[in-house]
Amino acid sequence: MQQAISVIKAEHRSLAAVLHGLMTVVDDLQNHGGRVDFRVLHAMLDYIDRYPDRFHHPKEDHYLFRLLRLRAPDAAGLLDSLEAEHRKNIDLMGDLRRALQRFEEAPGDMARLATLQALIRQYAEFHWSHMRIEEEQVFPLATSRLLPEDWQEINAAFCHNEDPLFGLDAKREYDALLRRIVAIAPAPIGTGAAWR
Ligand SMILES: [Fe+2]
Ligand SMILES: [Fe+2]
Repeated sequence: MQQAISVIKAEHRSLAAVLHGLMTVVDDLQNHGGRVDFRVLHAMLDYIDRYPDRFHHPKEDHYLFRLLRLRAPDAAGLLDSLEAEHRKNIDLMGDLRRALQRFEEAPGDMARLATLQALIRQYAEFHWSHMRIEEEQVFPLATSRLLPEDWQEINAAFCHNEDPLFGLDAKREYDALLRRIVAIAPAPIGTGAAWR
């Protein structure tokens, strides 16, 4: 397997884990109540927002999808729809941030919690489906159609922490954010204090 594909799959798994964690803590809050540690919810949204939305998806567009469009013109429709989802993702994140803000202003308001919960579920399902299409359709196509020189460029973009196009040390910064989530989130997500 090409290094870039391993990196993208690992990033998908980290994103899926944080999305799952976010759903679990909010479902638990809805079902059992408790005092909310907003640092955890903000850290999870920061992770989803900053790393995948600002680095993972733009890199897919800029390297993997751009070169695949050259080698597989028949995949244009599929890649158009995935790139449109990358853009839609930014709007969904804005909705999520606003819903979290409204809930933080009135943490006892169950209707606001229900809105946040519904948006998180919608966001997670949207993302899981997006990642599944990439893994089941785009990666096999890329593996069969891209040329060695394409992979050289794509692997360099995804495998180096220091990417001048997307900021230095981005990966290190977001690995640190993921470790922080594990440190402050309650069990079974992390090792932080329980909320009830
Ligand atoms: Fe993507
Ligand atoms: Fe992806």
